[in-house]
Amino acid sequence: MQPFYTPCSKRYEQKMRYRRCGKSGILLPELSLGLWHNFGDVDTLANSRSLIHRAFDSGITHFDLANNYGPSYGSAEETFGYIMQKSLAPFRDELFISTKAGHDMWQGPYGTWGSRKHLMASIDQSLKRMNLEYVDIFYSHRYDPDTPLEETLQALVDIVRKGKALYIGLSKYPKDMAAKAYQYLADRDVPCLLYQDRFSIFNREPVISGKVESAANNGSGFIAFSPLAQGLLTNRYLNGIPEDSRIARGGFLKKEQLTEERLIQIRTLNQIALNREQTLAEMSITWCLHHKELTSVIIGASSTTQLECNLKSLENTHFTSEELLLIDNASGL
Ligand SMILES: NC(=O)c1ccc[n+]([C@@H]2O[C@H](COP(=O)([O-])OP(=O)(O)OC[C@H]3O[C@@H](n4cnc5c(N)ncnc54)[C@H](OP(=O)(O)O)[C@@H]3O)[C@@H](O)[C@H]2O)c1
Repeated sequence: MQPFYTPCSKRYEQKMRYRRCGKSGILLPELSLGLWHNFGDVDTLANSRSLIHRAFDSGITHFDLANNYGPSYGSAEETFGYIMQKSLAPFRDELFISTKAGHDMWQGPYGTWGSRKHLMASIDQSLKRMNLEYVDIFYSHRYDPDTPLEETLQALVDIVRKGKALYIGLSKYPKDMAAKAYQYLADRDVPCLLYQDRFSIFNREPVISGKVESAANNGSGFIAFSPLAQGLLTNRYLNGIPEDSRIARGGFLKKEQLTEERLIQIRTLNQIALNREQTLAEMSITWCLHHKELTSVIIGASSTTQLECNLKSLENTHFTSEELLLIDNASGL
């Protein structure tokens, strides 16, 4: 175990920029690091630690977690908690840490969805695993159609009142339910800080449906996840399925998603990126950040090499209207 960690003293003087989160006092880095994959107890601790340290050294202050990230469930929070204790504890006030509850976590009727029972138990478990006294933002991970919305939202409000979270967020809520939630939370002086949803060149639903605009109109920031479509929007699958890739390891990204049509789109987008002197991963993230109404983009990475590449997306940020049109056409719009 590496005994000491001294963060880069120039971590705020490099290329990271910070954007204001809705109408709040919070600034978030344009790139945030997500711990959904690559931080579980099936992964190498040394690699997870290098990724977190490298991210912090580069000005990434926001780390995105959830109760069930792993595998196994809870183990990404444990990994983060271990690194927190060993090296990041002195820098707690420089960090913005999230967790979530609402997807399957433990067995039985109280281990999932949006009941007060689930949320209250889950935040306590998460804090223990992460060695934290509070998280910066606690999310309802998904809308629960069978629990009264008010029950879920009041639990979130009470979690803030108890000092276990500083802010509240919503993830993947339908637009109409998010609108009700914004109002409920604002009425109780715990406004929604962030709305989190999937957004990439291949998935523009939050912009098309008006979810991004609705978040802004309600003073909430919008944070995008899976900007690389879990790795499809990179050079990872240009020549087959590498053994160590997310598709090969099995999970949420399925082989079936890599259709012949998708591959043609990926190859065309790759060429557009090369013409811009970027990799496809860099261009895909830059494209997300080109949407100024986004607060931050949560990236994943399985190696520090990938992380370094993704940080380069903060350079060469200008798109010509011709390039934007080519990207639209290549992605099947
Ligand atoms: N709220 C929610 O419901 C929700 C859902 C999903 C995700 N999220 C959040 O969003 C975060 C990011 O999601 P994501 O991991 O799907 O994001 P992503 O950035 O779209 O995909 C990350 C994956 O792409 C590949 N990759 C990354 N950089 C690369 C590069 N430069 N070159 C080649 N391949 C590269 C790696 O896959 P390989 O393993 O193949 O190397 C990496 O694990 C999650 O960790 C989580 O925090 C939230």
